[in-house]
Amino acid sequence: MKILAIESSADETGIAICDFVDGVFTVEKNLIASQIDMHRAYGGIVPNLAGKYHTENIMPLLRKAKIDPSAIDLIAVTAGPGLMPCLVVGVSAANTLALAWDKPLLGVHHIEGHIYANWIQDDASVPTLPQFPALALVVSGGHTQLMLMHGHGDYEIIGQTVDDAVGEAYDKAARLLGLPYPGGPEIDQRATSFIVSSDQRKLRDADTLPRPMLHNGNYDFSFSGLKTAVLYSVRDYQKNILLETGHNQKSICKTDYESVDLPEEFVLQMCYAFQEAACDVLVYKTLKAAQEYNVRSVILAGGVSANSYLRSRLTSEITDNYPNISLHIPNLTYCLDNGAMIGAAAAYRWDRMNDQEKKACHLTVLANPNLPIL
Ligand code: KG4
Ligand code: ZN
Repeated sequence: MKILAIESSADETGIAICDFVDGVFTVEKNLIASQIDMHRAYGGIVPNLAGKYHTENIMPLLRKAKIDPSAIDLIAVTAGPGLMPCLVVGVSAANTLALAWDKPLLGVHHIEGHIYANWIQDDASVPTLPQFPALALVVSGGHTQLMLMHGHGDYEIIGQTVDDAVGEAYDKAARLLGLPYPGGPEIDQRATSFIVSSDQRKLRDADTLPRPMLHNGNYDFSFSGLKTAVLYSVRDYQKNILLETGHNQKSICKTDYESVDLPEEFVLQMCYAFQEAACDVLVYKTLKAAQEYNVRSVILAGGVSANSYLRSRLTSEITDNYPNISLHIPNLTYCLDNGAMIGAAAAYRWDRMNDQEKKACHLTVLANPNLPIL
């Protein structure tokens, strides 16, 4: 079957044309219009502006995809969670096309899409598919969850963040360090340069931040304290400079702090410390849960799955210590928001639906910013 998939939950408009034949999901076209450059000036996504850009981008992207409506068997669209002004653009386009072309339409959970990026098989570097029970570590700008997958579409959340998502923490920590949005790739790149240019002792000395909730006995996470620890380190550094330059400790105010530029070496070191602390907790809890639940596969999903350190840490830990567990990490093309992953989740869901359920797919899909996965 051929699927047209649409994603517009945050700051990327994604259109994909995909095939699902004999249980193999491949991607014919995966077009993305990113708005990141526009939101950078504001330090984060501005929802109404994002909605406006989706509206401007979606038709040119659909045209660029050169879709032959007669070849399409199913339309899939992200129904939520996400930003309402953004979701409604993709959902309206999908409802309109489904009605005009008389095609079935499936609303897809955005996180289910990220998870199913691991079932995309158009790359020779993806030799095997995840096996159940699987454990998914979902790490994005809005979610941080450990999810057991007992089968296709059968999820059990065993742990999640009690405050910030890890991607959000990356973005906030980067902002405190004066780095542009989105902070994840900025921190990733600087942490790597710090590792490459440092010896073991320097790395040990730089590893100063706490591992929140590492040994709290469950699979929940907390990242807002880590972000605050970055703020305290930045403020301590700035305070020392201010005291050295004759400021009186009692009268130092926010604007004084902000007048002190952070030198590159300090920023690199903080990026390293932040990434080390965040990834330590993610990897430790994932491996602990993988053992406890005796899973056959571990899956990485969400925008933070693009992180080079998290990818390599999980790969080496699992290859070295858990030979019976297969690790699945999406190709970099499918880590950030895209249409293909939404198509993959839709294909596998369609596959397990009965005729009555398939008939119901001619009804309108509604956008739901708080759509639950379970
Ligand atoms: O999945 P995604 O594209 O959007 C959401 O569904 O939220 O994830 C975006 C998040 C942002 O917080 C961004 O900073 C983070 O993914 N991210 C990264 C990297 N690339 C993107 N975080 C760490 N390292 C990266 N290389
Ligand atoms: Zn996402």
